[in-house]
Formats: sequence, structure tokens, C-alpha cells
Amino acid sequence: MSESEEKGAAAPPRPRFYGRRSGKALRRNALDLLGGLLPQLAIAVPGPELRIEPSALFASPPDQVWLEVGFGGGEHLADLAEANPRIGLIGCEVFRNGIASLLGHVQSRGLDNIRIFPDDVRQLLPALPDGSLGRVFVLFPDPWPKTRHAYRRFICPDNLDVLARVLMDGGELRVASDDPIYAAWAARHLAEHAGFEKVHATTRRESLPLDWPQTRYEQKCLAQRAPTFFLYRRRPRVV
Ligand SMILES: C[S@@+](CC[C@H](N)C(=O)[O-])C[C@H]1O[C@@H](n2cnc3c(N)ncnc32)[C@H](O)[C@@H]1O
Repeated sequence: MSESEEKGAAAPPRPRFYGRRSGKALRRNALDLLGGLLPQLAIAVPGPELRIEPSALFASPPDQVWLEVGFGGGEHLADLAEANPRIGLIGCEVFRNGIASLLGHVQSRGLDNIRIFPDDVRQLLPALPDGSLGRVFVLFPDPWPKTRHAYRRFICPDNLDVLARVLMDGGELRVASDDPIYAAWAARHLAEHAGFEKVHATTRRESLPLDWPQTRYEQKCLAQRAPTFFLYRRRPRVV
């Protein structure tokens, strides 16, 4: 039974796109961050009718709000937050150890422009208004390479529909994968979606914008194989 089910909250969406929700036992400092800092930064699971205005989540209204799906250890999100103090960053992650790791970055770097949704991003997305995000990052999502698990892959038509809705015109969707099956799958679904136009689909990291920090997963996988990076832009809406 998941944590939210235990608390009697709405069950998380199915199918599950993620693997485990917790890993090795956390140290005292990590537990203190989860108990003390997380409640200050956490976005609560919205009810079915609730709308969340993302810029209102931050102490002063940011120029834009960006969202990272599955931030892992949070290095990429923290790097973005540090480099872009006028941007509000929302990070979504279900893995407790990863959330604790991001909180460590927030504390040690003194970041005040990060908010955390510590649950399945699909519970947050319906509450976000149309065109309310400037960028969305889906970096090294769980690959689910077996064909029988393909329905668990995050990049899929339904999720792309939602991301196209919440991104502003011209907003960026950045995706990466080191799994050849997933990269081919993502390439196909991104290319077929009418809401997005391709800017880059490349294994050449040097051709990417300079403001694309590495994630922890990217650093780990580099020795084995070159990831594919996708940069797509939200097509302007036709009114
Ligand atoms: C392979 S890891 C990559 C982490 C990080 N992006 C990196 O590159 O280092 C994928 C992460 O996505 C998270 N994840 C998968 N589906 C998710 C969802 N629906 N909502 C929030 N997090 C999710 C998993 O818990 C996992 O930590």
C-alpha cells in the first residue's frame, strides 16, 4: 500500500510510471530535512476541483515557472535554480531519498526558488492552468524497455497532451534518455504530437543550449552509451 493510500488520500494514478519510492535507510540529517524543510516547500496534492497558480507558490512572482518531472537526486533542478534566481522551479519526485537529496541542495546552496511536489506528477498537472509553464524537463525517465511494460513509459500521447496544455506558446520540453528503445519511442511520440515542434534531437551534447546541466543519471550512464537529447518547443496555439 502506498503512503497516500495509507493516509486515506486519493490513490495515485495508474499505471505507475516509476519504480521504488524509497531506498536505503536515510541518515539523521536527511530525515530532519524531510521532517522540517520539506513541509515548508511542499505543494499539497490538489483536490479534483482545485486550481494551482504556479507563480503564487513563490515568495515573489517569478518571471516564469519551470517544472522537472522525476528530478532524481535534484542536482539538475538545483543547478537551474541557482543559475536562474528569477525563475520559479517546481520539482516532482516520488523517491524519498531523492527528495532528501534535493532538500540538501536547497539548504546548502540557500535556494529560495524551488517548490517540491513529493508525489506522482500526474496528480499535480491537472491543477495547473493552460500555458502556465515556461519549460518542462523529463530527463532519463524510467525506461521500461520491455514491450509488455511500454504502457508505463512517461512520454506517451496522453502525457504529451497534458504537457502541451500546461506549456506556454514557445515553451520548451526537454527530454533525454540513454535507453535506445526509449529514445526511439520518445522520438516517435514527440514527432507525432501536433502541439510540439522539434528544435533538437541529438546525441551530440555540444549542440544543446549551454543552460542544460547534467543530471546525476546522465553522469552515471555516460561511460556506457551516449544519451539522446530532445528539445521540443510548444507550437503557438491557433486562436
Ligand atoms: C531514472 S530516474 C532519473 C532521475 C533524474 N532525472 C536523473 O536524470 O538523474 C527517473 C526518476 O523519475 C521518477 N519518476 C518517475 N515517474 C514519476 C512520476 N510520475 N512523478 C514523479 N516522479 C517520477 C522516479 O522516481 C525516478 O527517480
